[in-house]
Amino acid sequence: MWRNFIYLIPLLGTAVVADVTDSCPGYKVSHVQQTKGTITADLTLAGSPCNVYGTDIENLKLIVEYQTDSRLHVKIYDEDEKVYQIPASVLETPSGQPQSSSNQSDLIFSYSEAPFSFAVQRRSDSETLFNSSGSNLIFESQYVRLRTSLPLNPYLYGLGEDSDSFRLEVNNYKRTLWNTGQAYLPTNGPLYGSHPFYIEMRNGRAHGVFLSNSNGMDININQTSGTSQYLEYNTIGGVLDFYFLAGPAPADVARQYASVIGTPAQQSYWTYGFHQCKYGYQDIMMAAEVVYNYSQAGIPLETMWNDIDYMDLRRTWTVDPDRFPLEKVQEFVTYLHENQQHYIVMVDPPVSINDSTSYNNGVDAGVFIQYDNGTEFLAVMWPGAVSFVDYFHPNSQNYWSGQIGSFFSDSNGIGVDGIWIDMNEPANFCGYPCIDAVDLAIQMSNPPQPPAVRTSWDPLPGFPVDFQPPGASKFRRDSTAGNMTGFPDRDLLNPPYTIGHVQPLLSTGTIWGDLSLYGGYTAYDTHNLYASQMIAHTRQGLLDRRSNERPFIISRSTFAGDGRNGGHWTGDNASWWSHYLLSIFQHMEFASIFQMPMVGSDVCGFNDDTTETLCARWAMLGAWYPFYRNHADIGANFQEFYRWPLVTDVAKKAIATRFQLMDYFYTSFYQQTLDGSPTTITPLFFQYPEDPNTLEINYQFFYGPSILVSPVTVENATNATFYLPEDTFYDFWTAEKMPETGMDVYYDNVTYMDIPVHIRGGSILPLRTNADQVNTTTQLREQDFELIIALDDNGKAKGNLYLDDGISINSTSSFMEFTYNNGQLVVNGTFGYQTNVTLQSATIYGTNDTTSPIHSLNKALNSAWKAELSSSNSTVRSG
Ligand code: NOJ
Repeated sequence: MWRNFIYLIPLLGTAVVADVTDSCPGYKVSHVQQTKGTITADLTLAGSPCNVYGTDIENLKLIVEYQTDSRLHVKIYDEDEKVYQIPASVLETPSGQPQSSSNQSDLIFSYSEAPFSFAVQRRSDSETLFNSSGSNLIFESQYVRLRTSLPLNPYLYGLGEDSDSFRLEVNNYKRTLWNTGQAYLPTNGPLYGSHPFYIEMRNGRAHGVFLSNSNGMDININQTSGTSQYLEYNTIGGVLDFYFLAGPAPADVARQYASVIGTPAQQSYWTYGFHQCKYGYQDIMMAAEVVYNYSQAGIPLETMWNDIDYMDLRRTWTVDPDRFPLEKVQEFVTYLHENQQHYIVMVDPPVSINDSTSYNNGVDAGVFIQYDNGTEFLAVMWPGAVSFVDYFHPNSQNYWSGQIGSFFSDSNGIGVDGIWIDMNEPANFCGYPCIDAVDLAIQMSNPPQPPAVRTSWDPLPGFPVDFQPPGASKFRRDSTAGNMTGFPDRDLLNPPYTIGHVQPLLSTGTIWGDLSLYGGYTAYDTHNLYASQMIAHTRQGLLDRRSNERPFIISRSTFAGDGRNGGHWTGDNASWWSHYLLSIFQHMEFASIFQMPMVGSDVCGFNDDTTETLCARWAMLGAWYPFYRNHADIGANFQEFYRWPLVTDVAKKAIATRFQLMDYFYTSFYQQTLDGSPTTITPLFFQYPEDPNTLEINYQFFYGPSILVSPVTVENATNATFYLPEDTFYDFWTAEKMPETGMDVYYDNVTYMDIPVHIRGGSILPLRTNADQVNTTTQLREQDFELIIALDDNGKAKGNLYLDDGISINSTSSFMEFTYNNGQLVVNGTFGYQTNVTLQSATIYGTNDTTSPIHSLNKALNSAWKAELSSSNSTVRSG
């Protein structure tokens, strides 16, 4: 936005600047039609087109739907429906069939006719949440602008992926969404994923705004003359498809957002174990040594990972015959599985043109992206010249499932337990204007020698349309009315409006924007969805292979809604203290705001060499990430936890604690999968929205609903200062009731073995016993439970426990609700999962009555859960 000023008339020696968009006429409203739950109207350009970054679109449509009492859908799109819209095959958001009405909903829509603008107000407190009247709507072929005014210095969160700050900056700030791989996670630029969703906190209440638009965009947040505030969307295409969510609690917004983009996928129990990875485990023996060393050190390793090292010349779908011979890898996987451990490897999206099997399969299926003349688009990645799958192609799922099914076959392939997908922004080392991908690949070090590139082949008479030869029209752009695949005649390589991408051109470092995809889409419009499609295809591929197992996928790039299909790791951080801290708010963002709770950062740091003390602190912090994996770059030193005695000790304690709490967290995660309730990793303001002190806390978080984690935030310090909201809290490690809350608390002597953790009063936590005696989550699942009953000031507490087989999609399950009141513990719930594990004891925090028995569990519940408490085997502790 700031770059688009032109100098006008020098007035009294001072240059007066005007925004080039000042001349844009806006729209006027006509043909308004209203029903109980909808408003539709026509919007017509209100003057001469300004055509600042493309062509003004004359006729637009407005549709407003009161979808639920707390969700309002407002969509502005071109009358002809040529402009690209996110295809439902990638993200289906709700539309139509309003279940609320304009006089019932908590959100009130109002508009002005000329120039058109609209506002959204919350009925219950009359707050205007969104108001676009400050500037004219601009809707052009390659630029859409809408600005909302906001209160000064708003509390905004979301709009990732980024490494800037948890609370969004409010002045002169630009957040660009254009999926980009960037080592060292630099600030002030786009990162791997795009999530055009924010939550705003105002007067203790929350609301959310989701713009369902996958085009590259800048979201500018700024103040004008220090007196008024705005947030402004500047997209290079697509339509304005908004979902306004009324809250009013942050947790409500989270659920409301999940109702738009989908709830997160449930994960298998074992995925919460500890994972080890490194780029640079150069052969299968080295991987085996790491597993062995973990076992010798007595650190429970759940899953071993291999990076692209296992591939032959870095080609996905191959193994290096010398360093990772298939039989050896298979032996290794068998060994891991016999020891209840797991194995995961990386899959990069493109297919090497030199890997005849997977490449030819793709060519035969016709799934590779092509130029408009029908020749194949060649890119460059680790293995040299590669082709990218067009996931819009109807054969792409079969192809991808086929690759997964054969390469990862349990009987004669590599029986992996999950897939790690990387470089799916997508990254291309030969981004525009690369002249010759094959030549570039040859110039790269260790070049694989490519076979002749097929640029033409004979037509296949009698074959279905999908088998047409190059130049066939089915691949080409189709901008006919009603297709929503992309406005015609745009500059897809150098769009007139320049978003804040970090590469010289939009298509540098990725596949080129002017490429056509199946169905008439362009890479320009769908760039930010490439990873979503890859994640969804990979999920389906894993399901086609093991139909009743929850697929485990960790992806680098993401878009809104991808939590439905997989998880995310936060990419190439560095072994820096600042990135240890950064990980904390990145997790809060992904888990509680973006609905992608299976998230983790590379523990001990990816780039650069870690240090013993940094790794020690990180080993402890990582135990409170949903996804807990140590990973390092090929150029970094080895950093497995067993390499230092201190880190070994810290890791053992950290993993044992994580294991103790595994079912508490598994239950919390399960709850989020039901309706998006933010029960995994949450910032403090989610739980204490009315406490303004919580709004700027970046480095403390709730792990599940009841455990507050307050990591050491100063490098080399052995103390911690953290905030305890006004409530009842108990120190997790000592069971001491915190004497004072609603204030900063200082802990001295926080050694590398320690991390301040507190239990919120009023909670009941199911803990596994003997958690420090087991090596894997499989063994952990055989351990009995004990309860911690942490009372609130009224002597009450409650909690849940969800049990199932830990892996199947269709598992039977039990869901227990514990309530404690007046010295009595009652368990209610549904009981379907059979287990021999019992409840051994309960410990009460916060009572002075050491004689108070915990009464027997409700016997009528289910024979599957035979635990019974009596005063003889329960422990009663005073607080
Ligand atoms: C980039 C990924 O972010 C990193 O985790 C991985 O080790 C390298 N690619 C090599 O595959």
